[in-house]
Amino acid sequence: MPDEQSDRYGPRRSDPGHASAARINDYMLGGSYNYPVDRAAAEGVKQIFPYAQEMARYNRQWLTRAVTYLASECGVHQFLDIGSGIPTQGNVHQIAPDARVVYADYERVAVDIGLDILVDRPYATSIHADVRQPDTILDAPATVDTLDFDQPMAMIWSSMIHFIEDQDEPLKIFARYRDRLKPGDYIALTHVSLHFATGDLERQVRASLDAYNGSVAETLTPRTLETINQLFTGTTIIDPGIVPLPDWRADPGYEPDPGDIARVMIVGGVGRIV
Ligand SMILES: C[S@@+](CC[C@H](N)C(=O)[O-])C[C@H]1O[C@@H](n2cnc3c(N)ncnc32)[C@H](O)[C@@H]1O
Repeated sequence: MPDEQSDRYGPRRSDPGHASAARINDYMLGGSYNYPVDRAAAEGVKQIFPYAQEMARYNRQWLTRAVTYLASECGVHQFLDIGSGIPTQGNVHQIAPDARVVYADYERVAVDIGLDILVDRPYATSIHADVRQPDTILDAPATVDTLDFDQPMAMIWSSMIHFIEDQDEPLKIFARYRDRLKPGDYIALTHVSLHFATGDLERQVRASLDAYNGSVAETLTPRTLETINQLFTGTTIIDPGIVPLPDWRADPGYEPDPGDIARVMIVGGVGRIV
């Protein structure tokens, strides 16, 4: 695990010459904080895997349902949203307006736009930091001034951990954050997985991941359900478990469509620390 600042680690400026995960996600969600290089990379991925945009939307819709569940059914009014992205739409402080919220991301534009829209919100802020350096988030003055770790709290990892490469030991990094939580707190996360992709679909997804990883600053690593389950070590996983995102506490009347490929490519769930 990295513990020293280097070129590979630490908060980043927003480089218009190189596509980034934050700006591509913004583009996929209909935002305007992206450069031509991001749009070109996103379109390249969509040509190989046309379901990529739908996956980003499913992810964001899950975030709304997960935060709503935590705030209204679990009494959580504090959130640390890690790898929060550009606040294009449906952000935690909007879903749970009474909550205290700290956003953290290493992409400069995500933090700048975040601070802009939070200017009138004394109990919400945004930190420019690298997730792989946990103390720079957990012990940041903005975090300790905004969040009370003695009160109920949830950490959100929405479409984020798959950007921590195996060489950086994501399970160990994740444990550093999870260890700051106490019984009764929650983690909520989503992760790209090939678990449900076989045959032609798997080949198509792998080709689109190659295209993504070849053109974007970050590397996206899909993981097995078994590994994703390990992130929930020390928690009780809330029903319905770790499932395709649209199936997680779906809105009434929702019927899963077996032909919906975007649906099964990203899974997620919520765990309660025991
Ligand atoms: C796909 S976006 C997801 C954004 C948002 N959480 C969502 O669900 O829509 C992934 C985010 O993780 C951030 N990210 C990736 N690696 C990071 C790291 N090492 N430290 C901090 N943020 C990181 C990116 O900048 C990007 O904003």
